[in-house]
Amino acid sequence: MSATAPDAPPPAGRASEAEVRARQLLSRMTLAQKVGQMTQAERMHVSPAEVREFHIGSVLSGGGSAPGANRPADWVAMNDEYWAASMFEEDGRLPVPVLYGVDAIHGSNNVLGATVFPHNIGLGAACDPELAAAAARITAREVLATGVDWTFAPTLAVARDVRWGRTYESFSEDPAVAASYAGRIVAALQDASDGSLGPDGIAACAKHWVGDGATTAGVDQGDARISEDELRRVHAMPYRDALEASALTVMVSLSMWNQRRCHAHRYLIEDVLKGEMGFPGLVVSDWNGIDQVAEDYGEAVAQAANAGIDMFMVPEQWRLFISALTSQVQSGAVPMERIDDAVRRILRVKAACGLFGRPRPAQRKWSNHPSFGSPAHRVAARRAVRRSLVLLKNEDGILPLDPAARILVAGKNAHDRGSQCGGFTVEWQGVAGNDRIEGGTSVWEGVRAVAPHAVLGEDGSAASGSGELPDGAFDVALVVIGERPYAEGMGDIRDPSPVRPGAPRMPAGPEDAAGAETLQPYGQSLELAALHPEDLAAIRSARARGLPVVTVLLSGRPLVTTRELADSAAFVAAWLPGSEGGGVADVLFGKAGFRGTLPFAWPASDPQGDDPPGDVLFPVGYGLRYSC
Ligand code: GLC
Repeated sequence: MSATAPDAPPPAGRASEAEVRARQLLSRMTLAQKVGQMTQAERMHVSPAEVREFHIGSVLSGGGSAPGANRPADWVAMNDEYWAASMFEEDGRLPVPVLYGVDAIHGSNNVLGATVFPHNIGLGAACDPELAAAAARITAREVLATGVDWTFAPTLAVARDVRWGRTYESFSEDPAVAASYAGRIVAALQDASDGSLGPDGIAACAKHWVGDGATTAGVDQGDARISEDELRRVHAMPYRDALEASALTVMVSLSMWNQRRCHAHRYLIEDVLKGEMGFPGLVVSDWNGIDQVAEDYGEAVAQAANAGIDMFMVPEQWRLFISALTSQVQSGAVPMERIDDAVRRILRVKAACGLFGRPRPAQRKWSNHPSFGSPAHRVAARRAVRRSLVLLKNEDGILPLDPAARILVAGKNAHDRGSQCGGFTVEWQGVAGNDRIEGGTSVWEGVRAVAPHAVLGEDGSAASGSGELPDGAFDVALVVIGERPYAEGMGDIRDPSPVRPGAPRMPAGPEDAAGAETLQPYGQSLELAALHPEDLAAIRSARARGLPVVTVLLSGRPLVTTRELADSAAFVAAWLPGSEGGGVADVLFGKAGFRGTLPFAWPASDPQGDDPPGDVLFPVGYGLRYSC
């Protein structure tokens, strides 16, 4: 799909149908239909009947918002209802198919039984864009299996301070690495790179425009106090590759640039993204992002619309939004030309997605497809896990382990598929434990499959039933430690403080609303021994048995682990590997070698104040190999 000025002739080629369709429909639309198309509501707050009545252009699932039993069939049935409502044609109503969006950022990760891939930080450690593209192709198919057409991915943040709770959504602190992934993932998700969707594609969403990873002290939704040169050279860079691959949508960042909200930044959206970079697709706001723009809601809506936002993610208050935008157009505060540009872009994207010609969700090729969560998909995910691992220490070549060795497996993260998946998995904040991650393997389950003399110690969060483990019964300890799941600001490392007034909350459901107002950060220090002292204790307990310790860290970012490293003979950074933790065991036992390298510098000490982490223990690109 290529950029076209409103009065220019439609582009040639495949995008022409999309352009012609958009123009034809737009010319027949009322203001109510246009404003409805610009509205994106959350499934818990809008019914199919309201989609029909208010011409709602898009529905989304916030993290953890799932229909029925959260199986593909429940999602397909839900999407089928929304689609049918949007295509209702009687009484002169224009049928315009609804676009359903989800955060499928490391697999179809909302849905029970999905294949869950390593988060982006692990894919970045693999230094293999084609590996990430393979993951994206499988993700697209497992999203299509649910009847959904749009994912809010890839995140193209270039995280510059690992205290940010979204570091794991970033591929690297190096913009060139992020850029090398951007285009490949967009083309894989969309199953095409010419501005339309291939038969196995879903619409991609490059996010969050722009500078979300540049905020001072890594504060989520904070202020990126950087020059325009740095903003362009570092943070806008990956978007060039994403747009080159014809990403159909871009999401605006909830952060600020030099104290101005990105959601109201006309220069960044209209002038740079749409003008200079020629982005022809639709720009969507982030969750209630317009609430932060101005005290007066009408003023906020006008500023955000005039800044160039085309579709508004207003999960709960979509009626208020429709009323406010309609008033702002009628008063002339928002010109009709701006509305027409927004709706033309939305219609162009829907046409480029082939939505007007596709059958209803229940009758589509991939809906409820048996490949969802299949062994073949999990094999691909397990390979990605193997390639993502980074070996930071390997004294006396203790690794690879001997499968015949007597191994004590300990550590709270050893048998916890939920924690190894991290945030944006089944629930917005993720789910610790094993109950809600169906399929896949924990690290322990991967070890147990190859090492008959391995035993899971009590502190491996699973009663091994072995009572006190006798001394002298083991040759080596494998201690698996790390973070608990988190997402967004709740993963920040900063002083605890209530969320700024007006900052969007992200309840997984109405019952969470009260809690979400006090989004507390993960901790106040990057020191793992401060965040989880039980991890150093587990390592030292194994040492006290006279055992050499192999430590595996499952985390969404580098942490200060100087003490844990000192007490370990070997140390592996495994990031957030997803559902296929068995891939960690594959490399620990030498079935594959270590290939990963650090995508972020590994800090030697806790950063103080606003400065990003300073002294480095291991540089970007560091990673040991097996000597064998
Ligand atoms: C969140 C995130 C964004 C996500 C959106 C929908 O606030 O910032 O990445 O796509 O809401 O869940």
